[in-house]
Parts: sequence; structure tokens; C-alpha cells
Amino acid sequence: MGSGVTYLDYQSTTPCDPAVVEAMARWWTEDFANPASRLHRPGLTAAAVVQQSRAAIAGSLGFAPEELIFCSGASEANNLAIKGVAEAELQRGGTRRRLVCLATEHRAVLDPLRYLAGHGFELICLPPQVDGLIDLQRLEQALNPQTLLVSVMAANNEIGVLQPLAAIAELCRRRQVLFHCDGAQAVGHIPLQARELGIDLLSLSGHKLYGPKGIGALAIAPGIELAPQQHGGSQERGLRAGTLPVPLIVGLARAVELAEADREKRGQRLAQLRDALWERCQALGGIQRNGAAAPCLPHNLNISIEGVEGNALHQGLRRSLAVSSGSACAAGEPSHVLQALGRSRLEAAASVRFSLGRPSTSTEVERAGDVLEETLKTLRRA
Ligand SMILES: Cc1ncc(COP(=O)(O)O)c(C=O)c1O
Repeated sequence: MGSGVTYLDYQSTTPCDPAVVEAMARWWTEDFANPASRLHRPGLTAAAVVQQSRAAIAGSLGFAPEELIFCSGASEANNLAIKGVAEAELQRGGTRRRLVCLATEHRAVLDPLRYLAGHGFELICLPPQVDGLIDLQRLEQALNPQTLLVSVMAANNEIGVLQPLAAIAELCRRRQVLFHCDGAQAVGHIPLQARELGIDLLSLSGHKLYGPKGIGALAIAPGIELAPQQHGGSQERGLRAGTLPVPLIVGLARAVELAEADREKRGQRLAQLRDALWERCQALGGIQRNGAAAPCLPHNLNISIEGVEGNALHQGLRRSLAVSSGSACAAGEPSHVLQALGRSRLEAAASVRFSLGRPSTSTEVERAGDVLEETLKTLRRA
């Protein structure tokens, strides 16, 4: 990355892999036809590559091709899953009104749920345990005959903790409650045989896994009715109107394929770099790790630093590092995730999320350690 800044914010977004850009190229310029134009050969060619891409992505998650709906990203997929399930329940005259989530969900889950809470649904937002993991007993208690949907993410975008998806799915299955999982931070990063795990609805996003921005998908298990959230055409089984972005779809499929291919090795390498950074942090003193060290994404490290002020900390770091305090989508406010773990607003503000990625090197991680050390020296002296 230019500008002399070391980028360690790969959970915010990743660079598009050059092989992905290459795979997309001809679908922008040469083979540009609309896959809904079934009366001519170029249209059929576009439809065929969409179908291939759909099958490859869905298959990697254990879903059938027709169970995958393309959309603009995980925010849209979450909205379609959550509001789609709730509206379908209303339309069929069902009486289930309870929705359950974890307080540490991304805003792209929390906001649609809150929207529904303002429209006659009941929202139960479960506090996590101090390590960020769900308390399964609490979840079980929240499931009653009125519960329609549980939404729990696979991997947290701020603290990286991995939720026990199979156990959550099993509790939901026993109560005939639908289980939606925001997999934006997990797909391509951890093994995720979503159907086998019992996930009913899975959201994913291209730009979190070295694919293009502006593309994502919702996988939907058979038999689940959703009310469309975007009207205007019969694309995507009538669930999501709009001309399909063929190049982005091809790019997403290639990105998923590449991410799966190097997932294990990349994870091991990044975990080593991350662990080295954590050792370095521990040597600086007055630093606590946020969230469970395991199970956790291999490329995430989230820390809170004692005795420094959040704004000053990030001002110091940003001259040389691109890191985050909390989620890019909630910029400005101290992290609701860290506060849900019991951190105060001040502690949450004085926190740093390092997230490593495919291009990260040991030199970059050492540099991050140096910059943190220098910044803390200056701030602590002051
Ligand atoms: C867990 C999670 N869900 C949803 C999103 C939103 O994804 P998108 O940018 O594809 O809409 C993000 C992005 O930060 C995320 O980390």
C-alpha cells in the first residue's frame, strides 16, 4: 500500500486479488450481455457463467446452487434474511414475533432487528460472556414458541471470536426456530460447511475475502419463505430485483475458490504473526486482549490499553498504521462490542483492532509493534 502506511485493517476490507481482477476482466468488456436476455447467445453465455459461479460458491458452503441469492454485500444479505423472514411470517398470518441475537452482532444485523422491534416484533439481545462467546443457556431460555429467528454471527468483526454454530443450530432446530448467521468475517477464513452445521440462512460478502466490493450473497436452506426486500424484476427467484453484476459474480466465485485454496496455510501463517504481535503488546505492559484468544480468527488481535486516551492513541497510530478501533461501519462511537464485554466507554475508545491479511509480512507486524511502542511512550510520558 502507498503512503508509507502499514495496513493492518483487513477485517474492514481486503484488496481484490489480482487473479480475481483477471477473472472478471472479460465480463466487463467482451462478454457484457445481460444474463436475463435469454433470447440471444451472448445472454445465454452470461447466464451460464452466473450459474457456474452460483454452483461453485453455494457448493463450497454445502448449499445447492438454487439456494444462493446474489446481492450487493453482507449488509443487504442480512436485511433480506432478517426482514424477509419477519415479513413472510406476517404475510402467512403466523404468530411468532420474537427475534433473538447477540449484543455483539454487526450493525448490519442489529439495525434491521431494531427496525422490526419498532414494528411489532420483540427483540431479545443477549449479552455475551466476558470472552465474547454466546451463553448457550441464556440462548435456550430465550427460545419459546413465539421465537421466529435467531441471528448470531460466525466470526466477530471486532474481536474475532468464533461462535459455537453447531450448538446454536441444534438449539434452534429443536425449537423449530430459524437460524441466520452473518458469515461476512468467516467465509474464506475458517472451515464453514454451513448446511452441515445446521445454518438456515448465511450471509457473505466479497470484499472481506479478497474479492470485489459490491457483491455478496445470502444462502437460504430449502423450505424457508422470505419476503423480497427489493421489488422490480424476477431475478434471483423474485427475491432480489436488479440486473445481475456478472463480473462481480465471477469475481466472487474466484475469490471464494482462492480463499479456500490457501485458507489453512494463510491461517497458520497469520496466526503466528498475530501471536508475535500479541507477545510484543504484552511486553509493553498495561495492555489487555479483548475477546477469547481461542476460538478466534487467526488474523485478529483486539487490545485495550490502560492509561491512554482513545483519540490521542489513534492520532498517534494513524501517522504510520491503518488499524481500527471497532467497526468501520460504526466510526466515531466507542465500540458496542467491547462495551458488551464489560469495557467502559473510555476503555473501548482506547482499543485497537489489528487485522492481518494475505499480504501481511513479519516486517509489517514488527513495524506495527514499533509504532505502538513509540506512541505509548509519548502518551505515557505526557
Ligand atoms: C460481520 C459483518 N457483517 C456485515 C458487514 C457488512 O458487509 P458489507 O460491507 O458487504 O455490506 C460487515 C462489514 O464490515 C461485517 O464485518
